[in-house]
Amino acid sequence: MTVEGIQVVGVVGAGQMGGGIAQVAAQAGYRVLLSDVSEEAAAAGIAKIGKQLARSVKKERITQAQADSTLALITPVGDLDAFAEADFAVEAVSENPDLKNAIFERLDAVVPAGKILASNTSSISITALGAKTSRPDRFIGMHFMNPVPVMKLVEIISGLATDPATLATTVALAESMGKTCVQAKDFPGFAVNRILMPMINEAFYALFESIASARDIDNAMKLGTNQPMGPLTLADFIGLDTCLAIMEVLHEGLGDTKYRPCPLLRKYVEAGHLGRKTGRGVYDYSK
Ligand code: CAA
Repeated sequence: MTVEGIQVVGVVGAGQMGGGIAQVAAQAGYRVLLSDVSEEAAAAGIAKIGKQLARSVKKERITQAQADSTLALITPVGDLDAFAEADFAVEAVSENPDLKNAIFERLDAVVPAGKILASNTSSISITALGAKTSRPDRFIGMHFMNPVPVMKLVEIISGLATDPATLATTVALAESMGKTCVQAKDFPGFAVNRILMPMINEAFYALFESIASARDIDNAMKLGTNQPMGPLTLADFIGLDTCLAIMEVLHEGLGDTKYRPCPLLRKYVEAGHLGRKTGRGVYDYSK
């Protein structure tokens, strides 16, 4: 069941997160505008969604007709002017405050005034992003987890000025996409990354101090605490640059030395070993 008053969901950013959000929104029956720097970039994002859906058809999780109708609901957009039609807009571009502020300035001008603007940020202040728009009461954090189609959680973050009605609508929207929500306050890392990133950082310290090998650190946590991936594998999956950036937000924002990023994590990032996306992180994915 879709949420009353929301027919069209606008998603900014057709990368891994934005593509995943577009997919789950379309699967829930919303018409989706998927925007990126150009219509071609947005179309490339839709092609990736098509591949995911084809895999699901092959595994007989969905029918070809369902895959086709999901894809038909997603329109590639190269210009945010199209978001004049959006009933809800969610931004999922890279974690760059200047870029996000520029996008929200445009969205604020284009998306009808009564509609909600949401950010998928994993660590930037929702209050600060919302304060730069004319609608901080209709501004909220909607933090999906990667891979979006698989992970059940959406972390919802209200800024200082977010209206309770905005919160209720956003929770209802996420639930209509089959997700379960948790609510977190707008402080560095919110809830997920406040807990997850120090664990990953500590795994780097354990490796840095030769407490155990990378494989043994991962197996310790995977087999010893039933995590689907060990923390170092998960760091490679998330991206070591992203992990470092979030640790820096925690360190700066909370001012406690317990959040200092591990020098080894920093070293990997300096080397350009950013994880799966560069073919090399803690582990080698080049083969
Ligand atoms: N996109 C869509 N679907 C995907 C996918 C992707 N990128 N990767 C895997 N899947 C699907 C597979 O198609 C498969 O689906 P079916 O069950 O329908 O067949 C299912 O996920 C399981 O995949 P696999 O069998 O290939 O592999 P797996 O069992 O090892 O699971 C995993 C892969 C789901 C990624 C699992 O290892 C896992 O849950 N890892 C932890 C992920 C995690 O913690 N994510 C959160 C990161 S933190 C974050 O996102 C927030 C932040 O701010 C940093």
